[in-house]
Amino acid sequence: MKKSSTVLVSPEEMEKQKQFSELVYAKTLEFAAERGRKPLAFVRTFGCQMNEHDSEKISGMLEQMGYGFCDGFDEADLIIMNTCCVRENAEEKVFGHVGSLKGLKREKPWLVTAVCGCMTEQPHIVEEIKKKYKNVDLVFGTHNLHRLPELLYRVIDGGVRVYETSRTDNEVAEGVPVKRCGNIHAWVTVMYGCDNYCTYCIVPYVRGHERSRRPEDILAEVKELCALGYKEITLLGQNVNSYGKDLDGGMDFAALLRLICENTPIPRIRFMTSHPKDISDRLIGVMAEFPQICNQLHLPVQSGSTELLKRMNRHYTREQYLETVKKVRAVNPGISLTTDIIVGFPGETDENFEDTLSLVEEVRFDQAYTFIYSKREGTPAAKYPDQVPEEVVKERFDRLLALQNRISREINDRFDGAVVEVLCEGLSKTNIERYTGRTEGNKIVNFTSPENVTGRTVKVKIDNVQTWSLEGSLLEIIS
Ligand code: SAH
Ligand code: SF4
Ligand code: F3S
Repeated sequence: MKKSSTVLVSPEEMEKQKQFSELVYAKTLEFAAERGRKPLAFVRTFGCQMNEHDSEKISGMLEQMGYGFCDGFDEADLIIMNTCCVRENAEEKVFGHVGSLKGLKREKPWLVTAVCGCMTEQPHIVEEIKKKYKNVDLVFGTHNLHRLPELLYRVIDGGVRVYETSRTDNEVAEGVPVKRCGNIHAWVTVMYGCDNYCTYCIVPYVRGHERSRRPEDILAEVKELCALGYKEITLLGQNVNSYGKDLDGGMDFAALLRLICENTPIPRIRFMTSHPKDISDRLIGVMAEFPQICNQLHLPVQSGSTELLKRMNRHYTREQYLETVKKVRAVNPGISLTTDIIVGFPGETDENFEDTLSLVEEVRFDQAYTFIYSKREGTPAAKYPDQVPEEVVKERFDRLLALQNRISREINDRFDGAVVEVLCEGLSKTNIERYTGRTEGNKIVNFTSPENVTGRTVKVKIDNVQTWSLEGSLLEIIS
């Protein structure tokens, strides 16, 4: 398939947004003068890391426009819901929230409610919002995020409802301000969209074609993060292995990683997601060559049955996947492997499912994110016959979960009494007497420490093991 060539959003368009940002800023000043406080925004994020990072951009733009932030619906003067539609329950959750906000608007007539993200890239959802959720003032999509200042201004100034989902899907916007959630770890998008069209998946329809950011823009962002004191980045893309296919100059993902490693002092690099069909020897080699690339890989298998993989349009067989795992482990011993698995894909037989169980047993993933198949309107699999009955799916799902829990626990048990290296990200959210961080293999470690070691790399002695995390105490500070 010929790639559409990626273009940058024009400087004129970005300049126009800056001007609208100033116009909204004047409005937020007016609000502050009247009420003695800044208007507060609440950005609620559903979905994956890509959406989390988009919300950081939304917050960055809002901050520039003079908004303060709150973390609940009730105090908010502006609510933005950044939505996900990868599975049906994600959509239901959003509609539940939007519906429950109807009363709030009556109490606070100035309240602006916006819905954006993957869900709103589906025309039937926009229609439903228009008809049933009159309390929603603004709808925008995933490709026109950078146009938020203009769209918001039209709502606030004109008092009208505005709907604008994507106009093009071959653009990349650079220079959007980002308000990051953390100050140790940062997300860095390397590419947008997906061209893989797995038959169950809605992402290509709502995120558009693959578009790579220019290497120089990515490098500049990573350098800036280093200067700000960030210690770890995760490079994001629906399939990072496609990076560069739409760029001139022969860049690929392995070359991008090398460029970052050789030209920035960032101590830790992760990336997601890698499609197993095109993980290259060059990538595996670069991972082994540079110690700053964490010895960890998320490699979604989806199913252990070649027959099902074919109908999922995944372009690899069970044997090829196992071969890839073998190769990755040979070059990167001790690598931490995680995966995604779908249970109950249309036509999944007992035998197909047994193939998934045996693959899980054979690979021994550190962790598997397991999902019950969800029918997505507009995808090829939605029309496949033999949708698997709910009870059968549920029973299979539980079996898979039990198996993976056992394996995750067995792998973690090996850490009991061990000393691990951890990059500390700050105090634990669930227990403020403990610090939290992750190992190179992405295991969460909660530990006690007599001093604040946020941002430091430390050795921790593990004295308690859970299925999803490790616990211990500080041994020494490395750097
Ligand atoms: N681009 C990434 C992740 C996309 S969505 C990748 O290819 O790995 C994350 C996960 O959601 C997928 O890996 C898949 O396991 C799951 N998923 C996607 N569509 C789904 C559907 N219709 N029903 C259930 N799970 C789904
Ligand atoms: Fe969806 Fe497949 Fe693209 Fe991942 S690679 S986003 S599962 S279509
Ligand atoms: Fe992510 Fe959900 Fe969109 S998984 S890409 S937020 S559909």
